[in-house]
Amino acid sequence: MLLFDQIPALKTYLRESRMAGKTIGFVPTMGALHEGHLSLIEQAVKENDLVICSIFVNPLQFNNTQDFDKYPRHFEKDINLLAPYPNLYLFLPDDRTMYGEKPTLRMDFGALEQVMEGAHRPGHFNGVGIVVSKLFHIVQPDRAYFGQKDLQQCRIIESLVRDLSFDLEFIMCPTIREEDGLALSSRNLRLTPEQRKHAVLLPQALFLARDLIQQEQKDFSIVRSRITDFFESTPIRLEYFEIVHSETLQPVQTIADTSRIALCIAGYLGEIRLIDNILLPE
Ligand code: PAF
Repeated sequence: MLLFDQIPALKTYLRESRMAGKTIGFVPTMGALHEGHLSLIEQAVKENDLVICSIFVNPLQFNNTQDFDKYPRHFEKDINLLAPYPNLYLFLPDDRTMYGEKPTLRMDFGALEQVMEGAHRPGHFNGVGIVVSKLFHIVQPDRAYFGQKDLQQCRIIESLVRDLSFDLEFIMCPTIREEDGLALSSRNLRLTPEQRKHAVLLPQALFLARDLIQQEQKDFSIVRSRITDFFESTPIRLEYFEIVHSETLQPVQTIADTSRIALCIAGYLGEIRLIDNILLPE
């Protein structure tokens, strides 16, 4: 597998591929790859002549330095996981390559970032927006693939693509779950076996909320308080549980407010923060 760690070499290679009529798929990641990432890569490999996967733990999007320092980094293992894919190339830049100087640019995604992750992780989407824009400029993909597990990130990037006229198709791929329902996440690697057992409460809460809504519970304040109660006397510290419009991500009060909703959750097990969501109707 070809590995690029410098921008000019990658750009030259991609320019020549584009001139040869090849389509380019792009899967940006922060590494510690799991089946969720591999499902994006598999779809990208099917739909494009060549695929770039980037691995870059982006310091700009961490509002907590401890979280950045402890973010799992398994570059050798990642390279081995990617090696079998045909026509897949890895972009593995370091901080200096991506940011000679720390960018002073500020991105504001308005109401989309004032809820949930944006509200609890100030500056997070500014960092995501900057790194994804840089990567899109470098790779200039035909298609870019992101996981639904980070639904708010997906909506932010869709708005970035629209507002800055990036000439690419944005593709959101379904969340991949463990057998017991836990959404795959690189952060799961940091859970102790005990925490791992309790982590399943997060998707269970989403499924409980889904069942209540499907059983015609139209008043979402009741659903919200059932979910808050669900976490009482569990080791999970619930940060938020929101019922939102699936596109605008603004809170909705009743099923009559919208046709499609998203149930979104974030909670802590010790110092490890996990998020998840489901879309309704499924
Ligand atoms: O979802 C991620 O892994 C990151 O937020 C992304 C999109 C690679 C940007 O750093």
